Amino acid sequence: MKKKNCINSMRVSLPSFSVNESAARAIVSAFVAQLNPTFDELSDIKCAVSEAVTNSTVHGYRNVIGQITIGVRLFDDRSVRIEVKDKGRGIEDVEVAMQPLFTTDPDGERSGMGFTLIENFMDTLAVKSKPGRGTRVVMKKKLSALPVTR
Ligand SMILES: Nc1ncnc2c1ncn2[C@@H]1O[C@H](COP(=O)(O)OP(=O)(O)OP(=O)(O)O)[C@@H](O)[C@H]1O
Ligand SMILES: [Mg+2]
Repeated sequence: MKKKNCINSMRVSLPSFSVNESAARAIVSAFVAQLNPTFDELSDIKCAVSEAVTNSTVHGYRNVIGQITIGVRLFDDRSVRIEVKDKGRGIEDVEVAMQPLFTTDPDGERSGMGFTLIENFMDTLAVKSKPGRGTRVVMKKKLSALPVTR
């Protein structure tokens, strides 16, 4: 199997203000656009980024402001790798946290569907976390082949 090569990458760090959820969406979307994704592929990616950044904002940095780092890598096989990282409170049990409907939201405003949505929007989702240290979410999606134009 041919090894895939990274053809472009970016990294940005934003404070966990809730206004930066839409900023993060827009930044990632603008960067991924160079691969000419379909409208649906791009909206899936934007939603996945929103869910991950919102999690860092509301859970990772609950009641505090911290930095959220977003890294994007584009590969020559048209796959996209997106990493969202925080140095917040972390997750006790990642396997449990990823179950549909599981939430630690004390006010009942959240539905516990963020990770499940990301799994549906993207091809793969990996979550690594240490309580008290932070959380890293890595998600990948392979874009469809470009239509042949003549
Ligand atoms: N970055 C993070 N830092 C700390 N805990 C997290 C983080 N991301 C997720 N979690 C934990 O995992 C749980 C599940 O996350 P998920 O996104 O699936 O649901 P939710 O955020 O509770 O609700 P929803 O996303 O539907 O609004 C959260 O309730 C929280 O306990
Ligand atoms: Mg969530």
